[in-house]
Amino acid sequence: MARAPQAPPNSTDESQAQIAHLEQRIGALEALQEVALVFSSEFQLERLLALILSSAVDVMKASAGSLLLYDGTTKELVFQVVQGGGGKALRQKRIRSDEGIAGWVFSRGQPVIVHDTGMDSRHLLRIDEALRFHTAAMVAAPLIYKGKPIGVIEIINKKSGEQFVEDDQDLLMAFAAQAAVVIENARLFQQVVSERDRLLVVEEEVRRELARELHDGPSQILAAIIMGLKFLKQVIARQPERTETELAELERLAAQALHQVRNMLFDLRPVALETQGLRAALEIYVERLRASEDVKLHLDVQLLKTRWSPKVEAALFSIIQEAVGNAKKHAQPKNIWITAQPQDDQIALSVRDDGRGFDLAHVEESYAQRGNLGLLNMKERAEIANATLDINSKPGKGTLVTLTVPMRQPTRRSARVFSSNQ
Ligand SMILES: Nc1ncnc2c1ncn2[C@@H]1O[C@H](COP(=O)(O)OP(=O)(O)OP(=O)(O)O)[C@@H](O)[C@H]1O
Ligand SMILES: [Mg+2]
Repeated sequence: MARAPQAPPNSTDESQAQIAHLEQRIGALEALQEVALVFSSEFQLERLLALILSSAVDVMKASAGSLLLYDGTTKELVFQVVQGGGGKALRQKRIRSDEGIAGWVFSRGQPVIVHDTGMDSRHLLRIDEALRFHTAAMVAAPLIYKGKPIGVIEIINKKSGEQFVEDDQDLLMAFAAQAAVVIENARLFQQVVSERDRLLVVEEEVRRELARELHDGPSQILAAIIMGLKFLKQVIARQPERTETELAELERLAAQALHQVRNMLFDLRPVALETQGLRAALEIYVERLRASEDVKLHLDVQLLKTRWSPKVEAALFSIIQEAVGNAKKHAQPKNIWITAQPQDDQIALSVRDDGRGFDLAHVEESYAQRGNLGLLNMKERAEIANATLDINSKPGKGTLVTLTVPMRQPTRRSARVFSSNQ
């Protein structure tokens, strides 16, 4: 930062020089403030980096500079933008993060002034000379965000030919502090944008796949059902004894179409499930239901910290969805509780309602004739998730559906389903 004059002036010349010096510092700080404002409205990372460097070179009244960012995967510093000096040839050049002056600054998190880089042992790389540029003086500062260095900014050769002094270093440090924040913001912004783009691509793929499945699956079956119904009209008139067989076939086709549509609904699982996991998806799901349903929904999934594969999480979500759907549709409950409880190396997920309950054995017996698919789907999904599915219900006593899922998925499937009743 700008320094106050150290001793009272003892001559007019000296005081004028000090006033000039202060004016220069104030000017530099004003410029710094201005560029900080411009920075915060630029989110395109490459443009922002170029802007930061050119502003720093201007403010420091220098002739060249470079900005390097750390690449954590290779532990290297990468020349992102270079102005003057080595110019374009240096762009994207990589150096070890403890190499040269930039590496020294980066690894120590400290600024440095180098008066004659030719003599400085840290200036090992001799990149400038290879590019026929002589670095006479340099000031470099680390870009630090939340205590962690993320890169280095180097300013080279004052236009006036003077050496850099401590004031310059302080100014560059102030500049670097602002720059680090806006660089990180721009990176975050870019991450959000690319995540959104990725989701749009996924969404588009799902849509295309769904259209294909609708075309090849249910719409073909519906066409077959319509043909079958036309045929049935003739059968009723001419061969009434065949009616039952034809009706059974039509029923089979309709059940098949329903099954396919359900599988598609399963594929249309909420995006949050894939991106944020089961717990977030359940929170969003319950929030939506609360807005539209009279029944009181209680969600207690704070302890659900495990993440499974997308396939397993989708299967678990769909079972819970069906269990809640069944409670709403059949039980007329006042309350539905959804809970997640860790038990040793397993998680018990449960859906309980205080509705009218049912006789599971009876439902299972007549399942084939009923044409329902909910419980069957739950059973299939439980197998996908290697989970044990227990359904406990008694007429008049509500229903408890419990899924016990291993936190770490075994390689072998071992689902036990419909295991207990009453
Ligand atoms: N929570 C519940 N409370 C009361 N009855 C239930 C409950 N869950 C299931 N049932 C009974 O079990 C039957 C079978 O459920 P299932 O989910 O398989 O079929 P569905 O809900 O009737 O139809 P689908 O799910 O195919 O739309 C239901 O018809 C209902 O009689
Ligand atoms: Mg159902």
